[in-house]
Amino acid sequence: MKIFNLSMECYPVAKVGGLADVVGALPKYLNKIDGVEASVIMPWYNKPFVHDHSFEIVFDGWIHQSHHAFQVQVMKERGKTLGFDLYLVKIPGLLDRDNPYGYWDESQQFLAFQHGVLHWLTAMKIRPDVLHCHDYHTGLVPFMIENCPEFSFLKGVKTIGTIHNGEYQGQMKWDMLNYFPWFRGDKVGLLDWDGYINPLATMLKCCHAFNAVSEGYLQELFQSLKGLESLVQQEHSKAYGIINGIDTEVWNPETDAFLDFNFGKKNALEGKWKNKKELCEEYGLNPDLPLFSFIGRFAVEKGADLLPEIVWKSIQQTYGALNIMILGSGEKHVEHQLSELSYSYSNFALDLGYKEYLSHKIYASSDFLLMPSRVEPCGLNQMYAMRYGTVPVVRYTGGLRDTVQDISTGGSGINFGSATAEDAVHAMHRALHIYHENGLMDSLVHSNMNYDFSWEKSAEKYLELYEK
Ligand code: ADP
Ligand code: GLC
Repeated sequence: MKIFNLSMECYPVAKVGGLADVVGALPKYLNKIDGVEASVIMPWYNKPFVHDHSFEIVFDGWIHQSHHAFQVQVMKERGKTLGFDLYLVKIPGLLDRDNPYGYWDESQQFLAFQHGVLHWLTAMKIRPDVLHCHDYHTGLVPFMIENCPEFSFLKGVKTIGTIHNGEYQGQMKWDMLNYFPWFRGDKVGLLDWDGYINPLATMLKCCHAFNAVSEGYLQELFQSLKGLESLVQQEHSKAYGIINGIDTEVWNPETDAFLDFNFGKKNALEGKWKNKKELCEEYGLNPDLPLFSFIGRFAVEKGADLLPEIVWKSIQQTYGALNIMILGSGEKHVEHQLSELSYSYSNFALDLGYKEYLSHKIYASSDFLLMPSRVEPCGLNQMYAMRYGTVPVVRYTGGLRDTVQDISTGGSGINFGSATAEDAVHAMHRALHIYHENGLMDSLVHSNMNYDFSWEKSAEKYLELYEK
């Protein structure tokens, strides 16, 4: 079975968040199953991975958007170093940028990617069994292959849409129709939702099946999907929930090259302590205090706006009996508030930026990982944390519900109910009790490292869906 994953991100080529981790791992694990040939198609970016690896040009052609012609080149990585075939689509002026997102004309950029991919497959007569589209950026593909005569060669190819994050739907105004490949006017309703072109809605309408990245998130989508709830209800017969896995080869404390000290289950306590000491020294924290961390985008769905209050409340209420470390960036007012707090409190360390190596060190060094998410489709951080012997303190929502049970019911972490600083700080108090209770913390470190979140199980579930 031949499967093409279409995505804007893929680790380690270009990563903004968990989408990259998933797309960088799922095909690798699918390819370990007999008879499966999974690969990734993504835009070309001006990134170190692209310059450090060797590529061959497998297609060179042209597409038309509005009145402009754009050259499309498809490059295939020669070494298959990631465990799957990697194809990069380059379109000078649109798909040759430094980063996946944040450009004023990104709707046109995403359209060009989808158009370019389908043009290449059609021209080269490449017909996969499944096109697996990730998030709204590739959500128009199921519509295009069924309705644009230019791609009639691909008609009937099965399409799966995965919702990693339904908060973003890619709405565009109707003048963007000029940039679409031609289709018959009576089909325009498939693009419409609430008066806009809505690529996520189109994906749900036109794909053969769609899935959310956890069962918990799927259930939430029926009630809350930024205006698309009724569409999810209507299309419920093709809706699935498949929890993400983690790449246990990349995220392995025994071999992780980013760590100061590697450790396994046998020497976990010693290994975590050594890493923590190093990190605390670097950031001016006292390693004898419990360390709570947050890693992530400063976005409303992550509850990042609650972080400043969580920081000062927890430090004041405990009279400074804990450390907090935050790694991330995003909304500017959150960045400013946290920066101010980092000057006032010596127990609080802040690193504003995106640093892959530092995230690994923090998962390994922390006692607790805090996730006050409002919306969390799956969440990978809590699984990385557990694999590195860290205890997750999470709001009970989406994928966090499916992966972190409360310790009071024999689980691996602490759950709290509402996305408020008060609830989060209350949960941190509970965490401190665990920390100070003789032996309890140590046994949690060990039992958390035993959880199996590997991709094998979820890859099997995707395969079942593809086969269906
Ligand atoms: P999302 O994709 O919504 O951001 P996930 O939990 O699925 O959330 O995945 C986040 C991924 O991004 C994890 O691999 C996490 O370690 C990483 N990450 C987030 N922020 C940073 C950062 N500032 N520096 C390094 N890694 C980060
Ligand atoms: C999204 C979600 C996150 C999920 C990730 C990978 O970015 O916000 O919860 O883990 O996609 O599926």
